[in-house]
Amino acid sequence: MKRLGINIDHVATVRNARGESHPDPYYAALHVIKMGADSVTIHLREDRRHINDLDAKKICKTKKVLVNLEISINDKIVKNALKIKPDYICLVPENRKEVTTEGGLNLVKYKKKLKNIIEKFKKNKIRTSLFINPSIKDIRLSKELNADCVEIHTGRISNLVKSKKKYNEELNRIKKCSILANQLNIEVHAGHGLDYKTTKILTKIKEIEEFNIGHFIIGESIFIGLSNVIKKFKRIIKN
Ligand code: PXP
Repeated sequence: MKRLGINIDHVATVRNARGESHPDPYYAALHVIKMGADSVTIHLREDRRHINDLDAKKICKTKKVLVNLEISINDKIVKNALKIKPDYICLVPENRKEVTTEGGLNLVKYKKKLKNIIEKFKKNKIRTSLFINPSIKDIRLSKELNADCVEIHTGRISNLVKSKKKYNEELNRIKKCSILANQLNIEVHAGHGLDYKTTKILTKIKEIEEFNIGHFIIGESIFIGLSNVIKKFKRIIKN
């Protein structure tokens, strides 16, 4: 059964637009789980542009929510994450000027650093995932780094689908990577830019066990409500 993780960063974006306390990401986390999400993703960015430290601490403290904390490999952030103690960690590249995460991690450049970080998280019993581009080389490197999971960046296929361009080549790339990861005993997740249509296309890949979706879910909930969007996604990933 495929799982749905919901990224609630943009609940904090809306809250921060007013500098007040509503809508509170903590209540959003409880709410999405009540409505059927399997886990919650929050990205504690170096510039704290949406989720802040207090949100992360509060959300990770509640036993009712499985939390996937996205972080960069910055030493301070890694130290902070070990204190916050989420259930899961997803390591992502981070660039101050980007609007959202652009591309996967550079596993070659940061091999040694990543290995050390993963080891630390493993000692703390935190499931660790690497956000990577769909590349066979990166799947093999993720195995060398002893990652529990990979989250395959689906931004490219999402853009192709949205602009009604041919996406089969990218789909095949994701499929081949998912099959290899599965054979190597690495759990496969998918995320970035996903909407109903691209998620449905990706459900054909049986090796993908978890989808992490944020912006579309929060945006669509303006029109049909969060619980209806979650129900729709649960239906899509069930088939
Ligand atoms: N997965 C990862 C690793 C991400 O960095 C993001 C964006 O923060 C997402 C999933 C969610 O992407 P989107 O908001 O486009 O659904």
